[in-house]
Amino acid sequence: MQQFSCFNPSKMTVIVENPVEDMELYEHKKEIHVDPDELVSDGGFTMPDSNAFGQSFRDYENAENERHQIVERTYRLQHINQTYDYVKKMREEYSRLDKAEMSIWECCELLNDVVDESDPDLDEPQIMHLLQSAEAIRKDYPNEDWLHLTALIHDLGKILLLPRFGGLPQWSAVGDIFPVGCAFDESNVHYQFFKENPDFNNPKYNTKTGVYSEGCGLSNVLMSFGHDDYMYLVAKENGTTLPSAGLFVIRYHSFYPLHSRGAYKHLMNEEDVENLKWLQIFNKYDLYSKSKVPIDVEKVKPYYLSLIEKYFPAKVKW
Ligand SMILES: [Fe+2]
Ligand SMILES: [Fe+2]
Repeated sequence: MQQFSCFNPSKMTVIVENPVEDMELYEHKKEIHVDPDELVSDGGFTMPDSNAFGQSFRDYENAENERHQIVERTYRLQHINQTYDYVKKMREEYSRLDKAEMSIWECCELLNDVVDESDPDLDEPQIMHLLQSAEAIRKDYPNEDWLHLTALIHDLGKILLLPRFGGLPQWSAVGDIFPVGCAFDESNVHYQFFKENPDFNNPKYNTKTGVYSEGCGLSNVLMSFGHDDYMYLVAKENGTTLPSAGLFVIRYHSFYPLHSRGAYKHLMNEEDVENLKWLQIFNKYDLYSKSKVPIDVEKVKPYYLSLIEKYFPAKVKW
């Protein structure tokens, strides 16, 4: 196993005093209107009445101002620093998969070291969020075992925040993701901060299709670098047998401008259109399964270990 201690993700490393874990949830829970009827009819998933603290989900209006500022600052840094060149460099670095070797389950346990201080709906170890979303989907889609495993692993890329995996700043690990290499869509949260991104005024990158072409397919589009793309790289390069929809869910689950606002659709191909349906189903479980539904880890562990064995090699390179 190689230790990973001296990598500096660029000279742009920024210390963010308070981790802003799941800032994507912070932003979206307050703006996505969810119709409970729609949830019930979509696979039978019912949104719980309250979160882990007995409060309404997506209730951020009353959140302390300080938290709001932290999230805004992180988005500012993300929008300024995630350039086409930065993403290329990060993908190159992380495609090497030379940081560690461990099983998928070991990584689920490791994720508990990632501190999540700002997610108001979650006061439990990260592994609980993974298992709660996976178990909720399993209940409603019992035959789609690939989707259960996809839910279990979708956030594992957050280990990017740990020193051994580069200790990346929040702006390069969590938050909504968006394409680079073409114009930033106005539906991105805190769009105004893109104006300070060097790509904003670069004619190569600031047209609707930029360096891409209509219908080229999302797999040909560079996305801002974070836990989605990293986990996708890990799964793909280790030869997972998860279906294309599973990889799509992992890779784009934070792509809110697309899956919740319909932006960037001109870059999709037919396969993306099919896969997007699964992502939209998955998203509801990702957002709303963070309630105090207790999961007996030891009880469900054998099931997930069997899925890991089915879809991944025993040792995975990270
Ligand atoms: Fe995520
Ligand atoms: Fe998640």
